[in-house]
Amino acid sequence: MVTEEKLIETLKKIKDPDLQKNIVETGGIRELKIDGDNVSIKIALARTGTAEQMQLQQQVVKEVKEAGAESVGLRFDTLTSEEIEKAGGTKTKQQPSLLSEENDTEFIAIASGKGGVGKSTVTVNVAVSLARMGKKVGIIDADIYGFSIPDMMGIETRPTVKDEKIYPVERFGVKVISMGFFVEDNAPVVWRGPMLGKMLNNFFSEVEWGELDYLLLDLPPGTGDVALDIHSTLPECKEVIVTTPHATAAFVAARAGAMAIKTNHEILGVVENMSYFESKITGEKEYVFGEGGGERLAEELKTDLLGQVPLGQPEIDKEDFAPSVYAADHSIGEIYAGITEHIVKKTGK
Ligand SMILES: Nc1ncnc2c1ncn2[C@@H]1O[C@H](COP(=O)(O)OP(=O)(O)OP(=O)(O)O)[C@@H](O)[C@H]1O
Ligand SMILES: [Mg+2]
Repeated sequence: MVTEEKLIETLKKIKDPDLQKNIVETGGIRELKIDGDNVSIKIALARTGTAEQMQLQQQVVKEVKEAGAESVGLRFDTLTSEEIEKAGGTKTKQQPSLLSEENDTEFIAIASGKGGVGKSTVTVNVAVSLARMGKKVGIIDADIYGFSIPDMMGIETRPTVKDEKIYPVERFGVKVISMGFFVEDNAPVVWRGPMLGKMLNNFFSEVEWGELDYLLLDLPPGTGDVALDIHSTLPECKEVIVTTPHATAAFVAARAGAMAIKTNHEILGVVENMSYFESKITGEKEYVFGEGGGERLAEELKTDLLGQVPLGQPEIDKEDFAPSVYAADHSIGEIYAGITEHIVKKTGK
């Protein structure tokens, strides 16, 4: 005569092939029915459809019969990713797509009205600061024609492709995808409108991002197609607007802000870049590109000035070349840490 207690004891001998625990400990016994000498069990494993599952099946039947059952019916299911994690495993289940509703990654687009104001520099350094704070972070270099993120971060490897999925390159703890990875030797990229949107979509759907707290999107300058595409693909996307301190730059940046407002995208704040030059000798600040643009823009967009970044280059480390990444203890690196804390506070992640 088989009893439930005896069966549970027996099933404790069976280990989940992917985890360090037995199938009772993992919570894998989904159903256990005893009908006279016939037993039926539904077992959830970290992964199903594997060779190990076949072996496990035979082992379960053998053990359960030894425990007194006449016949054994088995069905299988998969453990949830939370159960797998709890049992000390890594999530083997496919992540929900970045664009699915269950996904709670915070999308932040870095936008500006005009080119060359430092969007990409801001994207890279906020991303690296987030990673330094222990956040899981990715960058999509959405500047399809003028991609620059790989060079700025000193990335020399390419993404790997496995089972038709693209795995982003990781640098300083940040996962990166850029069009630059998919063109040969700096060849110019010629995409027409419809292809452009498709390419961007691929960056979301074909790339295995894993779990992300933040995904930053480095937008091309202006309010063109890509910005529009992003707005329609990512209704929840928030925005950081970059400007220089000059009044006209802030004026142009206001257009990017106006677009965000029109499409109901929350503006997290304004970063004023190239705000001043600070003399190393006297410590005096010179406002070479004018003054007050960031503050005025923030006022106009009814948002915060997240920070002001002065002129200055990162120290170049020949061993670990990344020409646009400021070290954590560089004065500008510290300013970026402040801007990033501000962003984290405002997104509540
Ligand atoms: N605070 C700064 N001090 C000195 N140089 C800077 C600073 N910020 C950015 N730069 C430099 O200015 C140039 C433009 O910056 P960046 O590429 O980040 O701008 P962008 O807005 O992304 O430009 P684009 O519109 O072409 O994409 C780069 O050469 C960058 O290294
Ligand atoms: Mg750029």
